[in-house]
Amino acid sequence: MFKEGMIMERIVIEGGNPLKGTITIGGAKNSAVALIPAALLADGVCTIKNVPNITDRDALFDIVRLLNCDIEQDGNIVKIDSSNLKNTLITQELSVKLRASYYFMGVLLGKYKHVEMYFPGGCNIGNRPIDIHLDAFKKMGAKVTKRGHKYMLDAEKLHGADIKLRFASVGATINIMLAAVLADGVTTIENAAKEPHIVDVANFLNAIGAKVEGAGTDVITINGVSSLGGNVTYSVVPDQIEAGTYILMGALLGDNLKVDGIVPEHNKALFDKLSEMGVDYKLGESSVVINKCDNLKPTNVKTLVYPGFPTDLGQPMSVLLTQANGTCVFEETIWENRFGHFPYLEKMGAKVELKDRVATIYGKAHLKGTQINATDLRGGAALILAGLIAEGTTTIHDIDYILRGYENIINKLSNVGAKIKLEEYNVE
Ligand code: EPU
Repeated sequence: MFKEGMIMERIVIEGGNPLKGTITIGGAKNSAVALIPAALLADGVCTIKNVPNITDRDALFDIVRLLNCDIEQDGNIVKIDSSNLKNTLITQELSVKLRASYYFMGVLLGKYKHVEMYFPGGCNIGNRPIDIHLDAFKKMGAKVTKRGHKYMLDAEKLHGADIKLRFASVGATINIMLAAVLADGVTTIENAAKEPHIVDVANFLNAIGAKVEGAGTDVITINGVSSLGGNVTYSVVPDQIEAGTYILMGALLGDNLKVDGIVPEHNKALFDKLSEMGVDYKLGESSVVINKCDNLKPTNVKTLVYPGFPTDLGQPMSVLLTQANGTCVFEETIWENRFGHFPYLEKMGAKVELKDRVATIYGKAHLKGTQINATDLRGGAALILAGLIAEGTTTIHDIDYILRGYENIINKLSNVGAKIKLEEYNVE
């Protein structure tokens, strides 16, 4: 894949520097990647504020443009005008660029009763089927035809349905809402996902005229309407996972580090763990000031659906666990392949035993900088955290994974005192 002479980028970190000052959190990636497709449901122009500047956003823009919609972007403000939308095949090249391309299924099925696209992409963190999405669309009257990786969804009429999810899937909950807002009749989603971005998407849909109730609880009810307006301005909710990642950095390196623009209750599961481990932090209404803890108590962490400990923070959290004084057990229950970062942590000096989805972590480890590779988005963020606390220089390759989900991460960290830079190099 990489050819000799090719110019690539890597992240270089000199570890051990305290973090002080303020990091401001941007809009939630996993909400923004649903709101951009959702804007195509509206008949007018949607202005979405606080959209993070990440490569997943750009991949969605390519699909929106392919569908003949106009996008204007000014910093974090994005205006989407879908008046000239042409419902065309979403190519394989664009479908596989990210996971969230699957939201065009719900949107186009709802609005045009016809979708053609390919199986979505996303980080390789496990088996990522879309059967729950497709079963729900079928219940609503859609016919699904699959040829290789290509999917065609058609419905003569899309109608409301009672849908009970076998797992509280984030993507399926959002996709069903997207399809149901323009379907005939009432749709109920039982065992719905409850993450903050579910509520955010429901709020956006209601702002453009949909009737969605119950988002944030186990049961969501959607009363279909005949059309959705536009000309709304909506701001993306702060990113729970970006916030959590920097809070974890503060727990290891903070010198009164302020993480600002957060919704503290979204990170309750993380704050509870930090309290248990003895970390000193002070919550404000929409911020937290955090100090490093040199004497972390060991604990066990198990990832769960919201409001449990988020899977997307599990990998950064595992770095904190390497610094506890004792043995910690870390269990990942959502994805079967979220341990790709551990071999690199071990290379840096962590003592870990892996068995299926359980990692036993023996602390406190002295980490040393070395050459490592990001294997996925959150694993990459975990390795940045490891590099920041390690002795010496850490060089992280394959950083595209990180840039797909963390806005301006190099600047945000440099501004609070980290010695971190992006470096170009020639592939040898
Ligand atoms: N699942 C199925 N069938 C389905 C859908 C999901 O079996 O049709 C299973 C998955 O295999 C997995 C579990 O259900 O074991 C959870 O999947 P979910 O559908 O909730 O995840 P997702 O929608 O694919 C989103 C985020 C992920 C985040 C998960 C869980 C986006 C674009 N992605 O994925 O974010 O880990 O929810 O919270 O919103 C990340 O940001 O790093 C990331 C991977």
